[in-house]
Amino acid sequence: MKSRIAVVVTLCLTLYLISTSCINKHPISPASDFFYPQTPTPPTPAAYPPPTNLSHLLFGILGSEKASHHRKAYTESWWRPGAARGALFLDKPPSRPWSPTLPPYRVSDDLSGLLHKRDLRAQRMVHGIMEVMREMGEEELRWLVMGDDDTIFYVDNIVEVVSKLDHTSHFYLGGLSEFLMSSYVFSFNEAFGGAGIILSYPLAKALAADMDACLKRYAYLFSSDNTTKNCVADVGANLSPQMGSHQIDLRGDISGLLSAHPLSPLLSLHHFDLVDPIFPSKDRFESTRHLMTAAAADQSRMLQQIICHQRQSNWTVSVAWGYSAQIYEAIFPRSYLQMPLETFRPWYKHRGVLIPYYRLNTRPLSADPCEAPHSFFLEAVEKSAERGEVVTAYSRARPRPLPPCSSHSADGIDRIRVYSPAASRYQMDRCECCDIVGLDNHTAEVRLRECLVGEVIA
Ligand SMILES: *[C@@H]1O[C@H](CO)[C@@H](O)[C@H](O)[C@H]1NC(C)=O
Ligand SMILES: *[C@@H]1O[C@H](CO)[C@@H](O)[C@H](O)[C@H]1NC(C)=O
Ligand SMILES: *[C@@H]1O[C@H](CO)[C@@H](O)[C@H](O)[C@H]1NC(C)=O
Ligand SMILES: *[C@@H]1O[C@H](CO)[C@@H](O)[C@H](O)[C@H]1NC(C)=O
Repeated sequence: MKSRIAVVVTLCLTLYLISTSCINKHPISPASDFFYPQTPTPPTPAAYPPPTNLSHLLFGILGSEKASHHRKAYTESWWRPGAARGALFLDKPPSRPWSPTLPPYRVSDDLSGLLHKRDLRAQRMVHGIMEVMREMGEEELRWLVMGDDDTIFYVDNIVEVVSKLDHTSHFYLGGLSEFLMSSYVFSFNEAFGGAGIILSYPLAKALAADMDACLKRYAYLFSSDNTTKNCVADVGANLSPQMGSHQIDLRGDISGLLSAHPLSPLLSLHHFDLVDPIFPSKDRFESTRHLMTAAAADQSRMLQQIICHQRQSNWTVSVAWGYSAQIYEAIFPRSYLQMPLETFRPWYKHRGVLIPYYRLNTRPLSADPCEAPHSFFLEAVEKSAERGEVVTAYSRARPRPLPPCSSHSADGIDRIRVYSPAASRYQMDRCECCDIVGLDNHTAEVRLRECLVGEVIA
């Protein structure tokens, strides 16, 4: 106790001496200088550790030589040559010259000596974690991102999400399947790899160190994601599910899913080969590139759902930023519209497959004119000259083959223009709100803004 008092007294004395000596250095300074100092303020010390950026991420992409020819468009859509680090692992060397717009390729290790079984596809994928760490895992890296050759990543959003986490901890991030049965059969605790698996560096290192032993422990499994989950569990970590990672274990038209994205940054999309092209009258690769034009303008808002009401005409406008917009000829609250419209079909459907199919609450498709939306899809992205806003324009896909809900038909509207601030917005505690700022016979104009205190979207 005594010594503590002594310390406090010494500290006070020291502070007193420092402060008096500082004052004495400027004996003629007028008092106002104390409040309005003329000396430049010292630079704030650099943040430590420096903020995470793309250079701290390492990507390991697993593909096959055969599929690489047509799937390269998916990887090219997000890969940033020269800025992103990583490799694309193939089952055998490429038969054609390798494009510089892709990650450099590596050929996966031959595991037939390690594991005595015939089908090693699942194990090759998991072993890729160790291989990419061995080839490129420098110490300054913070995160390892594993994906498939048909995964579409949103890398700025990944950087944003991981930069909020401690990269020196053990993190296993990823998405669950939308198809309930997949999670039931494999695991509710696993990242479905097509949607990307994000591992903090210490966890990736621990997995790499245990890799061969883990593959032997689970050699009987035929699923790479289930094996990875088991290896992660055995080094002591578990999944932190990410709502923005999309495995897309669905079939058909996924526009309903993409038009009601959860309030979470879009991290990945997958399985574009197996669903309908996401834009009407565009093929899969055109669709991928088209979606990326919006991402290039603002990744943070990609697919974020913003809802506003036009009370005079009794309409609700819902925007999935950068992808689609809908007009409903009725007033619906956000609580309802945040459920995806069930435009899609289950991954598979036969006897023995459990109902319900989805790990999502959905809205059924409806032929009721007050319930069925008018649908618009991204047409163009531009920068407004006056305000510096980003303007995304959505055009009508097709006429809605239904009578109007009331005297206020939206049949004539063929375009929706949405103005959003130029600055990205990663605040995910609350969505943005919007106003309908212009409406003529053909075009609706919507401006995004922060929601007001106490604003209710209903
Ligand atoms: C990324 O962070 C590193 C420091 O960790 C820094 O040297 C580098 O300049 C940063 N890169 C970008 C593009 O900001
Ligand atoms: C996934 O792994 C767990 C744990 O090893 C196992 O019990 C389960 O059967 C596996 N699922 C499939 C479909 O392989
Ligand atoms: C507005 O829509 C609701 C259904 O959501 C309907 O009951 C009501 O009559 C409509 N009002 C007008 C003025 O069209
Ligand atoms: C919009 O539609 C109304 C009614 O159909 C019509 O009277 C008006 O001239 C139209 N305005 C424009 C700018 O086309």
